[in-house]
Amino acid sequence: MGTMDKTYNIRFLKKKDFESIIELGDKIFGDNYLTQDDLKSVLKKSVKDGKNCSFTLTLNEGDGLERLIGFRLTYAPGTWIDSYDPNLELNPDLWGFDPEKVAYMKSNCLDVEFRRNGFGRMLLDRSVAETRRMGAEAAVAHIWMNSPENGAYNYFLKAGGKMIKTYPSYWRAYHLEDKPCIHCGFPCECPAAEMIIDYSNHKEL
Ligand SMILES: CC(C)(COP(=O)(O)OP(=O)(O)OC[C@H]1O[C@@H](n2cnc3c(N)ncnc32)[C@H](O)[C@@H]1OP(=O)(O)O)[C@@H](O)C(=O)NCCC(=O)NCCS
Repeated sequence: MGTMDKTYNIRFLKKKDFESIIELGDKIFGDNYLTQDDLKSVLKKSVKDGKNCSFTLTLNEGDGLERLIGFRLTYAPGTWIDSYDPNLELNPDLWGFDPEKVAYMKSNCLDVEFRRNGFGRMLLDRSVAETRRMGAEAAVAHIWMNSPENGAYNYFLKAGGKMIKTYPSYWRAYHLEDKPCIHCGFPCECPAAEMIIDYSNHKEL
C-alpha cells in the first residue's frame, strides 16, 4: 500500500463549489448565511478583466476527492460599491482611496480544525494579488468582532488592516429570523469593524 499524501489546493471560485460553500457557511456563520443567488452575485463581482479574485481551499486526503475546507470571497474593484446593500453602513469618505479602486473582502472562512495554519492569510494574499492586478489600491472588509477567539480581527490586523470605524449591530438587517446569526440568533447584535488594507504596505507571505 502506498502512502496517501494529503494535499491542499487553492482554486478559483466556480459555480460547482456553491453547495459546499453554503454548507460550510451555515456551519460557521448560521443557517442560510449564503444562498445560491448570493453566490451567483459574489462570483459575478469576483471576475474582472478575465481574472477571478475569490478562492476555495480544498483538501485531498489521498483518495483523489477534494473536500472544501475554506473559502475567501472577494469583490473586484469597481464591481460592488454601487450595489452595496443599502441596509448596511459603509464609509468610503474615510478610506483615503478612490472607492472605484478598492476591493471588498466579503467573507473568509476556514473549517474549525484547519485554523491557525496560515491558510486564512494565504487566501487573503491571493485575493490581494489578483485585485492588485485588476487595479485595486486597497481592500475594505467588515470584520466580525464576535468571531471565535476574535480570530477575524486578529488575522486582518496581522495582514496590515487598519481600523476605519466600528458599528454596533452591523448585520441586524442581514441576519433575519430565517437567517440567524450563529453568535446571537435573532436579532444579531454583533459589532463590526470597517477596516482597510493599503496595498502599498501589504507584503504577501
Ligand atoms: C478568521 C479566519 C478566517 C482566520 O483564518 P486562519 O487560517 O485561522 O488564520 P491564519 O492561520 O492565516 O492566521 C494569520 C494570523 O492571524 C492571527 N490570528 C488568526 N486567528 C487567531 C486567533 N484565533 N487568535 C489570535 N490571533 C489569530 C495570528 O496573528 C495569525 O498569525 P500566527 O498564527 O502566525 O500568529 C478563521 O479563524 C475563521 O474562519 N474564523 C471563523 C470565521 C470568521 O470569523 N471569518 C471572518 C469573518 S470577518
